[in-house]
Order: sequence, then C-alpha cells, then structure tokens
Amino acid sequence: MRTRDLLHLRNTGHPGINSLFAKAHSADWDFEHDVDWTVPIAADDPLVAHGWGAFGKTPTFLSLPEHAKSRATRRAVGRMLNILQVGESVAQDVCAKLVLLLHEEDYRNHAAAQAMDEARHHLAYRRFLEKMNEEPEDIDAGTEMMFDALLASNDALEIIATEQFFLESFAMSIFESLRDSATHPLLRRIIELITRDESRHMGFGVLYLAEWLKRQPLDRRVAFARPWLSQILGSLLDRPGPIFLARVIRRLRDAGVADAEKLAPQMLREQQEINAADLDDVVAGTKVPHLLKSARRVGLLAPEILDAIDFGAHPLIRGALRSEREAAPLSP
Ligand SMILES: [Fe+2]
Ligand SMILES: [Fe+2]
Repeated sequence: MRTRDLLHLRNTGHPGINSLFAKAHSADWDFEHDVDWTVPIAADDPLVAHGWGAFGKTPTFLSLPEHAKSRATRRAVGRMLNILQVGESVAQDVCAKLVLLLHEEDYRNHAAAQAMDEARHHLAYRRFLEKMNEEPEDIDAGTEMMFDALLASNDALEIIATEQFFLESFAMSIFESLRDSATHPLLRRIIELITRDESRHMGFGVLYLAEWLKRQPLDRRVAFARPWLSQILGSLLDRPGPIFLARVIRRLRDAGVADAEKLAPQMLREQQEINAADLDDVVAGTKVPHLLKSARRVGLLAPEILDAIDFGAHPLIRGALRSEREAAPLSP
C-alpha cells in the first residue's frame, strides 16, 4: 500500500460489517478491571462439571473417586485453555496480516479491532493458566499443523475462511460448552466476556464470505463449497474415540487409578452411545452446530450447490435444513 492507495479508501457500505467496528468499542471490556483476578483457584478444583470433558459423561468415569475425576477434568481444562491461548495468538497474527492485505476500509477496521480483542483473550487465558499453577499438556500435532498452515497463508479469502468462518464457528461450540459447564466463577467470567467478542469475529467471517459468494458464478461457489463442507462434516463426525481415550486413561492413572487401563473398553462403549445420541440430535435438526449454522448463513447450503456436489442427502446437512424449515414460520 502507498499513501495514494490510502487517500481514498473505499468502504463497502455493508451495514453489518461497519457496525461490528462500533460494537467492538461499545461492548469493550477491560482485562484488568472487568475481571476479578483475586478469586483464588484451589489446587484440587476441577473448574468445570465432569461431564464437560471427553468421556466425562460415561457412567464408568462418573463412578470413579472424586479426587481422580477432579484431577482428570482439571487437566482436560488446562489442555483446552492452552490450545485456546495459542489459538488467540495465531488469530492476532492473521488479523494483523488481514489489516495489510484488505483494501476496504470497513474490512480493515474490523481486522484491526479483532487483533486487539485476540491480544486481550490471549492475556486472559494465560493469566488463568498461571493461576492454575501447573504445566498444561502439550498441544496435539494436528492442531499445530493447522495453525502453521494458517500462519503461512497470504491469501485474505483463505485466511478469513479458515480463521473467522471455520475456526471461530468451531470454537464457538467449545466456548458455549465451557461457559455452560464452568463451576469456577473466574473461568465462567472470562469465557462469557470472550464469547461475546468471538461472536463478532465469527459474524465477520459469515458476512464477508456471504458477500464474496454472492459475486461468484456457480462453478466458483461449488469449488469453494466442496472442501469446506467436507471439512465441516468431517469435524462434526469426529467424536471422542480411542485416541482421546488413551489420553483420559493416562490422566486417570496419574491421578492414582491403578487399574485405569481395564476401564478403557467399557468407557469406549459408553462414549460411543453418547456420540450416537449427540449425532441423532444433529440429524433430527434439534441441535444445529455453529459450523452448520455458519455454512447455511453464508449460502453454502443453497440447493444448487448441494445438488452440484451431491451433499444434499447427507444426514447432518438434512438436519440443518430441517431445523431452518421448522424455524422459518417463527422468524420475523
Ligand atoms: Fe479470541
Ligand atoms: Fe476471535
């Protein structure tokens, strides 16, 4: 960019995207004063209800001694907060890059405001992890690879589709589950404040992509929809299984459950029943995950796209469309 390019910055005039920047200020919160950091975190506090963690709702897990359950649940929370704190730094990086890549005034403004939100989120998670006072488990290789690929991109559309549309819609379900299950007041407070910001970020991804898709011919829309819908369906079908179970068993063993390995087959069977029931709710359309809501809002579930890629018959997509039809008469 040169001064001449900045002299007459174009604003797209999109009311939704322009209002995001104003909301970033009116809904602002102060990292030091709006959170009471004096609230202590006891060393044996599980921080969330046991049912929040993978395998935490299984009858076998719930029948274990309270001390072991608390240790395992607390480690699960620590691992998630560690992924989130680094995810915030990744988001801050890509938003800073978007400020430079995007040439529209309202898009650049949103990206600048989001970069500041992400810096604050990073600090909040880091401070909470410090107060937990234990080394969190390392992030997994798959997450690290995905973050690395995002950090390497210099394409605004790819960055927004990955960060604001996919990752922030995916993360929104994690924030909601943490907010609903948090038993520690400080954790609940920071998640509530952060979730408010994240819904604006996800909103930008949805509005930006909806605008972009509207301008594309059908073949371009189909080419965009195919990989993203595959990724969305893949991540929705990815439920806690044997790999995650190994992690939970290790936590239980470290917490003093001597025969933890022996519990594994039974816990896996019980979790598979829970997974199936969760998916049934999505298929029935009674629960529509944020990823599918966002896909629907940007137009990826338009009939002509679903016809072209043969995804229309997928039970999860049918569930999202069914819930839209049932909700339609109530909408204003
Ligand atoms: Fe964030
Ligand atoms: Fe965000």
